[in-house]
Amino acid sequence: MTEFTLKSPLDMHIHFREGDMLKLVAPLSAASFAGGVIMPNLVPPVDSIERLVSYQNDISDAISSHEFEPFMTLFLKEYSLELLKSAKDKIIGIKLYPEGATTNSEGGVASIEAAKETLQIMSDLEIPLLVHGENPDAFVMDREKDFLKQYHELATEFPKLKIVMEHITTAEAVALLDEYENLYATVTLQHLLITLDDVAGGLLNPHLFCKPIAKRPEDRDALLNAALTAHPKLMFGSDSAPHPLHKKECCGCAAGVFTAPIALQILVELFEKHDALDKLQDFISDNAIRNYEIDVPDTTVNFVKKEFVIPDKYGDVVPMYAGQTIAWSIDG
Ligand code: DOR
Ligand code: ZN
Repeated sequence: MTEFTLKSPLDMHIHFREGDMLKLVAPLSAASFAGGVIMPNLVPPVDSIERLVSYQNDISDAISSHEFEPFMTLFLKEYSLELLKSAKDKIIGIKLYPEGATTNSEGGVASIEAAKETLQIMSDLEIPLLVHGENPDAFVMDREKDFLKQYHELATEFPKLKIVMEHITTAEAVALLDEYENLYATVTLQHLLITLDDVAGGLLNPHLFCKPIAKRPEDRDALLNAALTAHPKLMFGSDSAPHPLHKKECCGCAAGVFTAPIALQILVELFEKHDALDKLQDFISDNAIRNYEIDVPDTTVNFVKKEFVIPDKYGDVVPMYAGQTIAWSIDG
């Protein structure tokens, strides 16, 4: 095959940041994706309607003429029924960050118990819960595994609440999708491709360092298999998380892999390699449309089998696989 088309690709987990970084990265996503779920971990976080609306306006300005729907999220804290009633039509969900689990999560949830009133309101109003599922007190490789008991608890206690396990990295999390009707998941590009060996098994690669950290080969294989078979509850969410070069190539490297402008081309290459291109439309768009019950802009992206050299940098941000050549390009 030398040509391939995707309809309305969606990135169900994306960090756009603010200011100059927003102006740099938002158009790069909007050039190929039809929409994305915008993460709220700004400083300060997106935790009021005023901030949400002003952030959405900044995003609209940054993406200018591109057809791209920003699906906004709020940062989970205790919210009143009144606030959530007026937020409902402006958001796709609310993101739970355990306190201190990752970048800008200092104001996150210290105890899920204390958040339960808000979770009940969300369930009643049918507002999905998106979760950074890592227990920050556990050993780094076990932080997601340790959080699975919270997913069990949340899925059981709030059976009507849609819960999305964000950026899953373990075979156990994949298995959990089939245990609870109300659990869904996103997976990133890097977690379909790499293991901890690629991050730290040889020379340390800061551009592959993210949270959750990449895990074992058997975890990567389980994630890849679920994506290649288009598991109906699994959606693509790049977790593309730009940091300027000096925050990555330094002592105290920030967590985050920047993949937004190259993710689709690499996914086409990966799915073709595994003879699964017929499953990519579900994984990249249709599953998300069905699971979230959303309308998305009607766009098409055409790919051609023509070598594409991944740029060394976009502005001051180094993408995953910088300088490497991949087999597919976006046409036009
Ligand atoms: O690696 C990550 N970077 N994981 C996250 O959860 C947050 C993100 C960021 O905002 O940089
Ligand atoms: Zn993220």
